[in-house]
Amino acid sequence: MQNEMIKVRVFRFNPSVDREPYYQAYQVPWEENMSAMNALDYIYQNLDPTLAYYDHAGCDLGICARCSGKINGKPGLFCQTVIKGDTLLEPRKKERVLKDLITSSKEIIQESLS
Ligand code: FES
Repeated sequence: MQNEMIKVRVFRFNPSVDREPYYQAYQVPWEENMSAMNALDYIYQNLDPTLAYYDHAGCDLGICARCSGKINGKPGLFCQTVIKGDTLLEPRKKERVLKDLITSSKEIIQESLS
């Protein structure tokens, strides 16, 4: 049986190349209990290796908070948030973006302490 496809829109911005941030949409095969991180992994591994997000540097256990961001407008951890349909993924604070979903480490530390 073929998986249902969902649309995952991702915030993109490379300050050294892009004048403005933009959103890029990807079609991703949905699976039961799929996390936002699973969707990002699928995109990176199968569709777009230019996407920047915390993956191997993160714990994937909800501990390090490196994967914090916004899922459909709500703050959360990409590795711990289950997605159930079309999804919007953004950094928690767009003004601190280094590239795409990666923000400065100062931001991460401040977020995890608050
Ligand atoms: S990767 Fe560490 S909390 Fe998500």
